[in-house]
Amino acid sequence: MRLSISVPQACATMGDMSIRNVHTVRSPHILDFVSHSVAQTIRVGQRLGELLQRGDVVALRGDLGTGKTHLIKGIVLGLGSTDTVNSPSFVLINQYRASAQRSGLPIYHADLYRIERPIELQGIGLEELLDGDGVCLIEWADHAEQLLPDERLDVHLSHLSETKRVVRFAPRGRRYEELVDTLKKTAFN
Ligand SMILES: Nc1ncnc2c1ncn2[C@@H]1O[C@H](COP(=O)(O)OP(=O)(O)OP(=O)(O)O)[C@@H](O)[C@H]1O
Ligand SMILES: [Mg+2]
Repeated sequence: MRLSISVPQACATMGDMSIRNVHTVRSPHILDFVSHSVAQTIRVGQRLGELLQRGDVVALRGDLGTGKTHLIKGIVLGLGSTDTVNSPSFVLINQYRASAQRSGLPIYHADLYRIERPIELQGIGLEELLDGDGVCLIEWADHAEQLLPDERLDVHLSHLSETKRVVRFAPRGRRYEELVDTLKKTAFN
Protein backbone atom coordinates (compact mmCIF):
# COMPACT_ATOMS: atom_id res chain seq x y z
CA MET A 1 0.00 0.00 0.00
CA ARG A 2 1.30 3.42 -0.90
CA LEU A 3 1.24 5.91 1.94
CA SER A 4 1.63 9.60 1.32
CA ILE A 5 3.81 11.57 3.66
CA SER A 6 4.35 15.20 4.35
CA VAL A 7 7.50 16.01 6.23
CA PRO A 8 8.44 19.29 7.95
CA GLN A 9 10.91 20.16 5.20
CA ALA A 10 7.91 20.41 2.86
CA CYS A 11 6.32 22.90 5.23
CA ALA A 12 9.40 25.07 4.97
CA THR A 13 8.43 25.81 1.37
CA MET A 14 5.56 27.85 2.75
CA GLY A 15 8.07 30.69 2.94
CA ASP A 16 10.24 32.57 5.37
CA MET A 17 7.35 34.23 7.12
CA SER A 18 5.89 30.99 8.32
CA ILE A 19 9.11 29.31 9.34
CA ARG A 20 10.16 32.36 11.40
CA ASN A 21 6.84 32.50 13.16
CA VAL A 22 7.27 30.94 16.59
CA HIS A 23 4.02 28.99 16.21
CA THR A 24 5.22 27.24 13.11
CA VAL A 25 8.72 26.35 14.33
CA ARG A 26 8.39 22.62 14.52
CA SER A 27 10.56 19.79 15.64
CA PRO A 28 12.25 18.15 12.64
CA HIS A 29 10.94 14.89 14.11
CA ILE A 30 7.27 15.71 13.58
CA LEU A 31 5.60 13.54 10.98
CA ASP A 32 2.40 14.54 9.16
CA PHE A 33 0.67 11.76 7.32
CA VAL A 34 -2.45 11.94 5.14
CA SER A 35 -4.53 8.79 5.43
CA HIS A 36 -6.82 8.17 2.48
CA SER A 37 -8.77 5.31 4.03
CA VAL A 38 -9.55 3.38 7.19
CA ALA A 39 -7.17 0.68 5.95
CA GLN A 40 -4.30 3.18 5.71
CA THR A 41 -4.96 4.49 9.20
CA ILE A 42 -4.87 0.95 10.53
CA ARG A 43 -1.74 0.21 8.54
CA VAL A 44 0.22 3.16 9.90
CA GLY A 45 -0.99 2.26 13.39
CA GLN A 46 0.31 -1.25 12.85
CA ARG A 47 3.73 0.03 11.84
CA LEU A 48 3.80 2.17 14.98
CA GLY A 49 2.69 -0.73 17.17
CA GLU A 50 5.57 -2.82 15.87
CA LEU A 51 7.96 -0.23 17.33
CA LEU A 52 6.37 0.33 20.73
CA GLN A 53 8.02 -0.92 23.90
CA ARG A 54 7.20 -1.43 27.55
CA GLY A 55 6.45 1.88 29.24
CA ASP A 56 5.59 3.78 26.07
CA VAL A 57 2.76 6.32 26.17
CA VAL A 58 0.78 7.40 23.10
CA ALA A 59 -1.54 10.37 23.71
CA LEU A 60 -4.21 10.67 21.00
CA ARG A 61 -6.16 13.85 20.35
CA GLY A 62 -8.70 14.87 17.76
CA ASP A 63 -12.41 15.48 17.26
CA LEU A 64 -15.09 12.82 17.34
CA GLY A 65 -14.75 10.35 14.50
CA THR A 66 -11.29 11.38 13.36
CA GLY A 67 -9.97 7.81 13.64
CA LYS A 68 -8.31 7.51 17.06
CA THR A 69 -9.85 4.11 17.75
CA HIS A 70 -8.99 2.83 14.27
CA LEU A 71 -5.38 3.93 14.69
CA ILE A 72 -5.34 2.06 18.00
CA LYS A 73 -6.75 -1.04 16.30
CA GLY A 74 -3.66 -0.94 14.10
CA ILE A 75 -1.28 -0.32 17.00
CA VAL A 76 -2.69 -3.30 18.88
CA LEU A 77 -2.31 -5.46 15.76
CA GLY A 78 1.27 -4.24 15.44
CA LEU A 79 1.92 -5.42 18.99
CA GLY A 80 0.84 -8.85 17.85
CA SER A 81 -2.39 -8.93 19.80
CA THR A 82 -5.45 -10.74 18.51
CA ASP A 83 -7.71 -9.06 21.06
CA THR A 84 -10.71 -7.12 19.81
CA VAL A 85 -10.31 -3.38 20.19
CA ASN A 86 -13.44 -1.55 21.28
CA SER A 87 -13.83 1.95 22.56
CA PRO A 88 -13.80 1.60 26.34
CA SER A 89 -16.59 4.13 26.71
CA PHE A 90 -18.03 2.99 29.99
CA VAL A 91 -15.14 1.22 31.69
CA LEU A 92 -12.74 4.00 30.50
CA ILE A 93 -9.78 1.63 30.26
CA ASN A 94 -9.56 -1.67 28.35
CA GLN A 95 -6.66 -4.05 28.62
CA TYR A 96 -5.29 -6.21 25.82
CA ARG A 97 -2.21 -8.38 25.66
CA ALA A 98 0.61 -8.34 23.10
CA SER A 99 1.83 -11.56 21.51
CA ALA A 100 4.31 -13.89 23.22
CA GLN A 101 6.99 -12.61 20.82
CA ARG A 102 6.33 -9.17 22.32
CA SER A 103 6.63 -10.68 25.83
CA GLY A 104 2.86 -10.57 26.34
CA LEU A 105 3.11 -6.87 27.13
CA PRO A 106 -0.06 -5.44 28.66
CA ILE A 107 -1.68 -2.83 26.42
CA TYR A 108 -3.90 -0.28 28.12
CA HIS A 109 -6.48 1.56 26.00
CA ALA A 110 -8.09 4.50 27.76
CA ASP A 111 -10.89 6.67 26.38
CA LEU A 112 -11.29 9.84 28.41
CA TYR A 113 -14.06 11.41 26.33
CA ARG A 114 -16.43 11.36 29.28
CA ILE A 115 -13.97 12.99 31.67
CA GLU A 116 -15.17 16.57 32.06
CA ARG A 117 -13.19 17.72 35.10
CA PRO A 118 -9.76 16.69 36.42
CA ILE A 119 -11.28 15.41 39.67
CA GLU A 120 -13.06 12.72 37.67
CA LEU A 121 -9.68 11.24 36.83
CA GLN A 122 -9.16 10.25 40.43
CA GLY A 123 -9.61 6.59 41.06
CA ILE A 124 -9.69 5.40 37.46
CA GLY A 125 -6.14 4.07 37.78
CA LEU A 126 -4.60 6.00 34.90
CA GLU A 127 -1.61 7.29 36.88
CA GLU A 128 -0.64 3.77 37.91
CA LEU A 129 -0.86 2.57 34.32
CA LEU A 130 1.24 5.49 33.05
CA ASP A 131 3.97 4.43 35.48
CA GLY A 132 3.39 0.77 34.82
CA ASP A 133 4.72 -2.12 32.84
CA GLY A 134 2.72 -1.84 29.66
CA VAL A 135 1.99 0.33 26.66
CA CYS A 136 -0.58 3.10 27.27
CA LEU A 137 -2.80 4.34 24.44
CA ILE A 138 -5.01 7.24 25.50
CA GLU A 139 -7.90 8.68 23.48
CA TRP A 140 -8.93 12.24 24.40
CA ALA A 141 -5.58 12.64 26.15
CA ASP A 142 -6.24 16.39 26.41
CA HIS A 143 -8.74 15.51 29.15
CA ALA A 144 -5.85 14.32 31.33
CA GLU A 145 -3.14 16.80 30.34
CA GLN A 146 -1.86 17.19 33.91
CA LEU A 147 -1.28 13.44 34.31
CA LEU A 148 0.61 12.87 31.09
CA PRO A 149 4.35 12.25 31.31
CA ASP A 150 6.55 14.94 29.73
CA GLU A 151 8.01 12.32 27.44
CA ARG A 152 5.41 10.72 25.20
CA LEU A 153 4.17 10.46 21.65
CA ASP A 154 1.39 12.91 20.90
CA VAL A 155 -0.78 11.94 17.94
CA HIS A 156 -3.25 14.45 16.60
CA LEU A 157 -5.89 13.42 14.09
CA SER A 158 -8.08 15.76 12.08
CA HIS A 159 -10.67 15.52 9.32
CA LEU A 160 -9.55 16.41 5.81
CA SER A 161 -12.64 15.00 4.04
CA GLU A 162 -15.13 12.23 4.58
CA THR A 163 -12.50 9.57 3.97
CA LYS A 164 -9.24 11.45 4.52
CA ARG A 165 -7.54 12.24 7.81
CA VAL A 166 -4.38 14.11 8.73
CA VAL A 167 -2.42 12.21 11.34
CA ARG A 168 0.32 14.19 13.06
CA PHE A 169 2.93 12.33 15.11
CA ALA A 170 4.59 14.80 17.49
CA PRO A 171 7.22 13.17 19.71
CA ARG A 172 8.17 14.63 23.06
CA GLY A 173 11.56 13.46 24.29
CA ARG A 174 14.47 11.62 22.74
CA ARG A 175 12.97 8.12 22.86
CA TYR A 176 9.91 9.25 20.95
CA GLU A 177 11.87 11.34 18.46
CA GLU A 178 13.83 8.23 17.55
CA LEU A 179 10.60 6.26 17.39
CA VAL A 180 9.07 8.68 14.87
CA ASP A 181 12.29 8.78 12.85
CA THR A 182 12.16 4.98 12.64
CA LEU A 183 8.45 5.08 11.78
CA LYS A 184 9.22 7.40 8.85
CA LYS A 185 11.66 4.83 7.52
CA THR A 186 9.64 1.67 8.15
CA ALA A 187 6.20 2.93 7.14
CA PHE A 188 7.03 5.17 4.22
CA ASN A 189 10.17 3.81 2.53
N1 LIG B 1 -8.97 7.70 6.65
C1 LIG B 1 -9.73 7.31 7.71
N2 LIG B 1 -9.12 6.90 8.83
C2 LIG B 1 -9.85 6.54 9.91
N3 LIG B 1 -11.21 6.55 9.95
C3 LIG B 1 -11.87 6.95 8.84
C4 LIG B 1 -11.15 7.35 7.68
N4 LIG B 1 -12.06 7.70 6.73
C5 LIG B 1 -13.26 7.53 7.28
N5 LIG B 1 -13.17 7.07 8.53
C6 LIG B 1 -14.32 6.81 9.41
O1 LIG B 1 -14.23 7.69 10.52
C7 LIG B 1 -14.66 7.04 11.69
C8 LIG B 1 -13.54 6.99 12.69
O2 LIG B 1 -14.01 6.35 13.82
P1 LIG B 1 -13.16 6.16 15.14
O3 LIG B 1 -14.05 5.46 16.11
O4 LIG B 1 -11.86 5.51 14.83
O5 LIG B 1 -12.93 7.67 15.55
P2 LIG B 1 -12.50 8.23 16.98
O6 LIG B 1 -11.58 9.36 16.73
O7 LIG B 1 -12.02 7.13 17.85
O8 LIG B 1 -13.89 8.78 17.53
P3 LIG B 1 -14.32 9.06 19.05
O9 LIG B 1 -13.80 10.40 19.43
O10 LIG B 1 -15.82 9.00 18.98
O11 LIG B 1 -13.75 7.96 19.91
C9 LIG B 1 -15.14 5.64 11.27
O12 LIG B 1 -16.52 5.69 11.01
C10 LIG B 1 -14.37 5.40 9.99
O13 LIG B 1 -15.02 4.52 9.11
MG1 LIG C 1 -12.60 6.41 19.72
